[in-house]
Amino acid sequence: MSEAPTGFRPGLEGVPATQSAISNIDGQQGILSYRGYRIEDLAAHSTFLETAYLLIWGELPSAEALREFQHDVQMHRRVSFRIRDMLKCFPSGGHPMDALQSSAASLGLFYSNRALDDENYIRGAVMRVLAKIPTMLAAFHMIRRGQDPIQPRDDLPYASNFLYMLTEREPDPLAARIFDACLVLHAEHTLNASTFSARVTASTLTDPYAVVASAVGTLAGPLHGGANEDVLLMLEEIGSEERVEAYLDEAIASKRKIMGFGHREYKVKDPRATILQGLAETLFSRFGHDRMYDVARRLETLAAEKLGPKGIYPNVDFYSGLVYRKLGIPTDLFTPVFALSRAAGWLAHWKEQLGANRIYRPTQIYTGLETRNWLPTEQRSGHNGEPTG
Ligand code: ACO
Repeated sequence: MSEAPTGFRPGLEGVPATQSAISNIDGQQGILSYRGYRIEDLAAHSTFLETAYLLIWGELPSAEALREFQHDVQMHRRVSFRIRDMLKCFPSGGHPMDALQSSAASLGLFYSNRALDDENYIRGAVMRVLAKIPTMLAAFHMIRRGQDPIQPRDDLPYASNFLYMLTEREPDPLAARIFDACLVLHAEHTLNASTFSARVTASTLTDPYAVVASAVGTLAGPLHGGANEDVLLMLEEIGSEERVEAYLDEAIASKRKIMGFGHREYKVKDPRATILQGLAETLFSRFGHDRMYDVARRLETLAAEKLGPKGIYPNVDFYSGLVYRKLGIPTDLFTPVFALSRAAGWLAHWKEQLGANRIYRPTQIYTGLETRNWLPTEQRSGHNGEPTG
C-alpha cells in the first residue's frame, strides 16, 4: 500500500486551496474588503450592479461603463416562456432554493454554446446570470401562489425591479436602497463553501450556469446560507426578551448551535452584521418596529458574555432576516435572495478560475479494507442491507 498523504485537515480548515484577488477578510479585526474597497464604503456609496462589476472585472466602472453594464443587464431580464412553463411544473410546495438551483442549471440548455476563452461570451453569461436569476426567482414565487409571473420593468433599477416582481408594487425608495445595500453586503466572501463549490465546478471547464447551480445547492445548507431562515424561526421560537437567557443556556448545555452566530473566519462580530443591524434600525424607524429585534439584541448581549470568549459573535445571517422581513420578503426566499446576490461573487471566481485554471483533484486518505476476493451470493455470510459502518 502506498504511504498515506499527511496534513489532513477536516473541512480543509486553514488550508489555502486557491490564490484569489477578489476579496479579503481580516477575521481578528472584523474587516471585509472587495478588491481592496472596505465593505462599509461599498454598502454606503455603491450599488449592487456597480459592486458586481468591481468584483468581476476588478475595478470600479467609469460612469459610461456602468451605464452600459446596467443597460445590458436590463436587456437580459426577460426569460423564455419555456422557462416560465418549466417553473409552472415545479411543485408549488418545494423550496425556492431548489427551484432556483434547477432554473439556474436550465440556462445551460437555452444558452448552450460555450466559448470560455471569449471575453464576449463571458460578459454575456455574466449578464444572463445577474439578469435572469431575479426574474426566475420572482416568477417561481408568483406561480407557487397561483398567480402569473410579473414581467420585469425596464424603468426600474435592479433592486427595485426585483421587489416589484415579488409584490407587483413599486417599492419605497428607502426600502429599495436598503435592499440594494443588502445585495452589496452578500455579494462575495472569499473561499466559503459555495464559492469553493463554484470554483471546483468551474475548474472542469463546464458552463457557467452549472457553476452557479452547484454553488446554489451548496449555499442552501443550514450551516451556510440557509442559516438566515433559521435565525428568524429561532427568534420566533424564543418569543420574548425574558425567554432569551433560558433558551441560550439550554442551547449551550445541550451543545446546540445558535443560528446566526459563529464563523470560521471571524473571531469578532462580522462587519456585515454590524451594517445590517444599522439598516434594520433605519427600516424600523421608518416603517415600524419589529419586536423580534429586541429578542435578537438581547440574545446578542447575552451571547457575547457566554460565547464571546470562544470567538463566537453574530454573523451576516443574524440581522439579515429581520431586514428582509421588514422589506416584505417571505422567509423561505431569504436564502434565494442571498444566492441572487452571491451570484456576483461566484461569477467573479468563475472568471478568475478560468484565468489560471487547474482542475481541482485533491487526494484522500483511504480508510477502507484491503483488496478482497469477490464471492457469489450463496457463499457470502453477513450483510443483509444494514449499514456496515
Ligand atoms: N452557537 C454555539 N456554539 C457554537 C456556534 C454557535 N452558533 N458556532 C460554533 N460554536 C462552538 C461549537 O460548539 C464548538 O465548540 P466546542 O469547541 O466546545 O465543541 C466551537 O464553537 C467551534 O465550532 P465549529 O462548529 O467547529 O466551528 P466551525 O468553524 O466549523 O463552524 C459555523 C462555523 C459552521 C458557521 C458554525 O459557527 C455554525 O454552525 N454556526 C451556526 C450556523 C450559522 O449561523 N451559519 C451561517 C454562517 S455564515 C454563512 O455561511 C453565510
